[in-house]
Formats: sequence, C-alpha cells, structure tokens
Amino acid sequence: VAGVQRIRIIIPYSPRRAFLPFHGRKKRWAVLVCHRRAGKTVACINDMIRAAATCQLQDGRFAYIAPLYNQAKDVAWTYAKRYSAPIPGVEFNESELRIDYPNGARLRLYGADNPDRLRGGYLDGVVLDEYADMVPSAWGEVIRPMLADRQGWAAFIGTPKGRNAFWEVWERGQAEPNWFAMMLRASESGLLLASELEEARREMTPEQYEQEFECSFTAAILGAYYGREMAEAERSGRIAHVGYDPALPVHTAWDLGMGDSTSIWCFQVGPSELRVIDFIESHGQPLAYYVGELQARGYKYGDDWVPHDAKVRSLETGRTRVETLVGLGRSVRVVPDHRLDDGINGARVSFPRIWFDADRCRFGLEALRQYRTEYDEKTKAYKNTPKHDWTSHAADAFRYMAMAWKQLTPPTKPTDAIAELLKPRTWGEIFANEDDAVDG
Ligand SMILES: Nc1ncnc2c1ncn2[C@@H]1O[C@H](COP(=O)(O)OP(=O)(O)O)[C@@H](O)[C@H]1O
Ligand SMILES: [Mg+2]
Repeated sequence: VAGVQRIRIIIPYSPRRAFLPFHGRKKRWAVLVCHRRAGKTVACINDMIRAAATCQLQDGRFAYIAPLYNQAKDVAWTYAKRYSAPIPGVEFNESELRIDYPNGARLRLYGADNPDRLRGGYLDGVVLDEYADMVPSAWGEVIRPMLADRQGWAAFIGTPKGRNAFWEVWERGQAEPNWFAMMLRASESGLLLASELEEARREMTPEQYEQEFECSFTAAILGAYYGREMAEAERSGRIAHVGYDPALPVHTAWDLGMGDSTSIWCFQVGPSELRVIDFIESHGQPLAYYVGELQARGYKYGDDWVPHDAKVRSLETGRTRVETLVGLGRSVRVVPDHRLDDGINGARVSFPRIWFDADRCRFGLEALRQYRTEYDEKTKAYKNTPKHDWTSHAADAFRYMAMAWKQLTPPTKPTDAIAELLKPRTWGEIFANEDDAVDG
C-alpha cells in the first residue's frame, strides 16, 4: 500500500516453547495456570507489547494488572521497558508506569489494590497477573465493563492458591469454547533444572511443592489463619442459606478504614450459635454511605461494634467516628482492646458455632479463606504477622465480631426457662435462690 513503510524491529524476546500456544491463541479469553518461575510475567508482558505496538484500532489501550501496585512497579515495569525499548518512537512515562507506542496505543501497569485508578476508560486488552492473589471484585466491578466498548480481550495468569476465584476462572476456561486454557506443571514444562526442583522439594512441605510447582488447586492456602476452620465450616454445612430472623436484632461489626476500605459483618445471636447473615465492604465512602446501606437492608438493628480507635478524634471533622455514627442514629459499642493474636485465637475458638449465609457473605468468606501470614522471601518462612492486603479489612471486622459476641449474652430459650422451673430442686437450692433475689 502506497505510503505505508515497513520496518523490521527486533525485540529481545524469544518465547519459551511452552508459551507459544498462548501467543498464538485466537480466543478472546485466556487462562494460564503455571508453576513459579515459568516465565509467565515475561510472556504476558511481551504478549501485550505485541498487541499494543501492532494495534490497528485508534488509540489502543492495554493494561497489565498485578495484585499490588508495587509488584507491577518492581517486576513487570522493568520487563515492559526492556522489551519495548527497541521500538522507534516509543515513550516511557515513569510516574504513571505507562508506555506510549508510535501508533497511539498505550500500555499501562496497575495494581488491583487501587482499581479506581482504572475506572472510567476502555480497554482493548488486559492481563491479570497472579490472579489468585487479587481482590476478586476487581474483575467484575471494574475491569470487565471496560472491555465491553471495543470487545477487548483478557488473560488470567497465575499460580494456584486453593479453590479461590482463580480456580473458578480455570474451571470456566476449560469448559467454555471462547477460552484458551493451559496448565504448565514444572514436571512437564522442562523450564527449571531438575536440580533446582529437587532443592525446592527439600525446602518445602509436599503440599507447598504441589501448589507452587505442580499447580495443585487442592492444597490448603499456605499460612491461612482460618484455613482449617473455613474448611470445617464448609464440610459441616455451616456455609449455607442463613436467613434474617426478624425476632432477633441484627448487630454489626465494623473495620473502619479512613481513605481505605470499610468492612461490616451483620450478625444475629441465636441461642447457641452466631448467625452471620450479611457482609458489606466498600472504600472511599463516608460513614453515612454505610449507614444508608444498612438501612436499605431493612433489618431491625441492635448494636454497631467498632474498634477501639474509632474513639480517636478526626482532624478533618473534629469528631470521633463513634460520634459520627451516633449522630447518624446508630447505637455504637466499642470492642474491648485486645492483642491481635488473642483476637485471632478468639475468632478460631468461636468458629465452630458460626453459621454464614453463603450468598450474602460471599466476598467476606473469600477474604476469610485467604487471610494469611506474610511469607518472608529472605528467611523462606512465614512471619507471625498478617499480610496486609484486600483480605485484611474483612478479617479484622470478623475478629471484632467474635470479640463482640463474647460480650453479648445469648438469650435463653423459653423452653429452657420452663424446663428450669420444672426441674426438681432441694430446699437448700430454693432458699439460696430466694436469698439472691432479696439481696439483688
Ligand atoms: N523467554 C524468556 N527468555 C529469557 N528469560 C526469560 C524468559 N521468560 C522468563 N525468563 C526469565 O525467567 C525468570 C522468571 O520469569 P518470570 O516471568 O518473572 O516468571 P514467573 O512470572 O512465571 O514467576 C526471570 O529471570 C526472567 O527474566
Ligand atoms: Mg510473575
């Protein structure tokens, strides 16, 4: 065609053989389950660079998303620059982690910890790297709608982390025709030296090795605080349909984020069990928003339990958050101050008596499943502090709920009270009770 110049650009990337089918895919959706160090980040960054640099649409828009912004910045940004550098006329914007290609296309790197940065625009292609670690709502709420305008594509990439949202994508990818699905196990890929794998096997538990190198989704989530409790709750059918009982007040337990996320568990205290009937989480919203959400549900409320620091005066409003909630007509109680590990233990002890509504608590339950200790790459061990990520807020609020439950005396069943009256008693017991009544 007249006026079109053909140039040959050499990108310093030679794909690993295992990733050739991925690069050659014709499907709109893709899911790649790969072992650690398979080269999945390198492969998906290069896949996007090609898509962006050869994009025929006007102003092509592409996004690479890591679970945390810093991960995108530390690893993927280096790759993206290295492999884009030979393209003449390419421009790098360091502060926005954005690459502009001469055809007007842009590739930008994001963290799912701040999905709002993404909101508003459209996308022609997106890669979700380490999807198993990502806040599951980012896809449906933010990313998927952005692909609608121009029929954009998406690739979900990662290493398994139990049966979470990534597993669901993997299941779906294998079942539906519009998907490219591929699993890459270390024993089959030949990408890592046998000696490397042997060493890893010696350093890890068999379960860890299965997960990280053999792509096992069935391994429990490593370092998960409530892993065993959640599995037990599922096995014994306590994650079910737990409806609202109008005869009992609905209490709430809040983790209050400032600019951050706020999580709320809604629960009812039964005769011998805690019924968790609802869960709310959002971010960047004022307290009035949450109160509105609660009112819209139409429950009859008891107390709102908030953490100790809700008594701290805000510099902005000059009021404490307790005062703000009271001003909004709520009945507020403060959870007793406690140490984090005592709180977690308390929550674990309560677990066998907790029932959850599977639908309404879906997000919170996923957070509880994945709430885990931080892995220290240097010492190759789990620290005894929780990893701070999208699971933290729901998990903290859950801990407050368990603390609150301890404070609330469960109402005695009327049948129990009658049985109590009919129970044969000695004269001594009867007189002892009468004495109590007189003194009290
Ligand atoms: N096609 C490739 N050619 C050369 N080196 C590669 C290639 N793919 C990956 N690597 C190297 O292998 C290592 C792991 O790659 P990475 O993509 O970060 O792995 P993963 O994301 O699967 O853990 C990095 O050092 C990377 O530079
Ligand atoms: Mg990677």
